[in-house]
Amino acid sequence: MPRLFRGPVRLSLSTRLALLFSAITLMAFAVLYLYVAPGLQTRLLGDQLAQLSSDARVHSRTIGRTVGSSQPLSSVQDRVNAAALATGDRVTLLLVNRVPSGSELSELADSSRRSTTAALSFAVGRAAVASGRTTTGTERTGAGTVAEAAYPVVLRGRPAAVIVYSVPASGVVRAVATVRHQILVAGGIALLLALIGSYLVARALAQRVKRLELAAEKVAAGDFEQAIPVDSGDELGQLAVAFNQMQRQLAQLESARKKFIATASHELRTPIFSLGGFVELLEDDDLDPDTRARFLEQVRDQVERLRKLSVDLLDLSRLESGSLELRPEQVDLSELTRSVSGEFEPVLAQHDSHLELRVTPGRVEATCDPVRVAQIVRILIDNALVHTPSGSRITVTARRADGHVRLAVRDDGEGIESQALVRIFEPFYTADDAQGSGLGLAIASELAERMAGRLSVDSRPGETTFTLELPA
Ligand SMILES: Nc1ncnc2c1ncn2[C@@H]1O[C@H](COP(=O)(O)OP(=O)(O)OP(=O)(O)O)[C@@H](O)[C@H]1O
Ligand SMILES: [Mg+2]
Repeated sequence: MPRLFRGPVRLSLSTRLALLFSAITLMAFAVLYLYVAPGLQTRLLGDQLAQLSSDARVHSRTIGRTVGSSQPLSSVQDRVNAAALATGDRVTLLLVNRVPSGSELSELADSSRRSTTAALSFAVGRAAVASGRTTTGTERTGAGTVAEAAYPVVLRGRPAAVIVYSVPASGVVRAVATVRHQILVAGGIALLLALIGSYLVARALAQRVKRLELAAEKVAAGDFEQAIPVDSGDELGQLAVAFNQMQRQLAQLESARKKFIATASHELRTPIFSLGGFVELLEDDDLDPDTRARFLEQVRDQVERLRKLSVDLLDLSRLESGSLELRPEQVDLSELTRSVSGEFEPVLAQHDSHLELRVTPGRVEATCDPVRVAQIVRILIDNALVHTPSGSRITVTARRADGHVRLAVRDDGEGIESQALVRIFEPFYTADDAQGSGLGLAIASELAERMAGRLSVDSRPGETTFTLELPA
């Protein structure tokens, strides 16, 4: 079975779904890791800096008052220590010394001992001196990140000192690092679950699709027997229902096709065998002229039967394949029925039958293919003659009603039995012993439908009417 699609890369449905789910999971965790976690860190640090800044505003005034005064260093240290105790921060007081290149900071008092805390470079303090406002920031030291807020002490319009409040931010950094780690672990697990889950779901779907594919392959190979089990009401279940329906229809069409070919070849074989037999008989030189003439008459009959059969089969196959071309034109149907009825005069005389034509000349007009309408009328009159006893009466009428034209052929024969009535339009169906091949009405009704019309029958003992209805 050739595959219909040959793309450059062939990924199975399950692989594609698994990749898609994994990509979505991966993206969700990447956003968490790269956007949410850093955001969290910034927010937490921001809170810490805001707290330091508020500490600086509340406690700096008492320390600031010592700058430029004659207070002993121990008293300054006490105030620094008190502020540190109250806030829980490390508090450092730095003096601003003016040097030619700008200003320099020198430490005057520090709440913690140097050995137990990180050595700070006080960049935030310098920034506060430069701007003259309370400034916050972080600094990386050997002992981790430190958050700082610096409060400049202004004396006579110039920053004379700066008080730096600092606190280790490594707690925040560590917490965020832990969160990041957890995100990575959770992401890994989710990715694995997405991969396995999507693969399993997709594999189940793919198996159901595969079943449909196998069934389609079987049908393509001519096996119409096995229906696909319908295991759910979802889209694939509905596809299976539609597929089974198609399979049934194909099976019906296939059996109709086989029956058609079998019947057609049987119908063709009978006259051909009969012809073969007569030709053999005619080879006999001792045949008397009467018998020879009788045999030749039979040969003529069989040849005529073969001719009609081959023409009918060709018509029917063209009609069924839709390749029969119609040439519609404005037609006077009263004239048409008159001329077709006229063709039957010799046969009517032979049958001792009578044909009555009830049409109003020039009043019944329709747009149709005259050749094909004549063919239908011929088939109907032929049936009214062949399938009724001799001496019967046939009436042909043509009239217009409700935007339609109705051509009717009625006979007073024995009628058609009701079980046969539903089948007479089938190809090769014959309901009596008359030697027909059963194609006439099949062709007539197909032709009527092709002309957007309809052929119907109404039969009871003593009266059978076939009516051809065409749009006017
Ligand atoms: N006017 C009728 N009266 C009684 N039976 C009819 C009449 N017309 C058709 N039938 C029945 O319908 C069957 C089908 O008719 P149809 O014209 O299709 O085939 P046919 O006449 O047997 O063969 P063909 O027309 O191909 O030579 C006939 O065999 C006959 O039994
Ligand atoms: Mg017929």
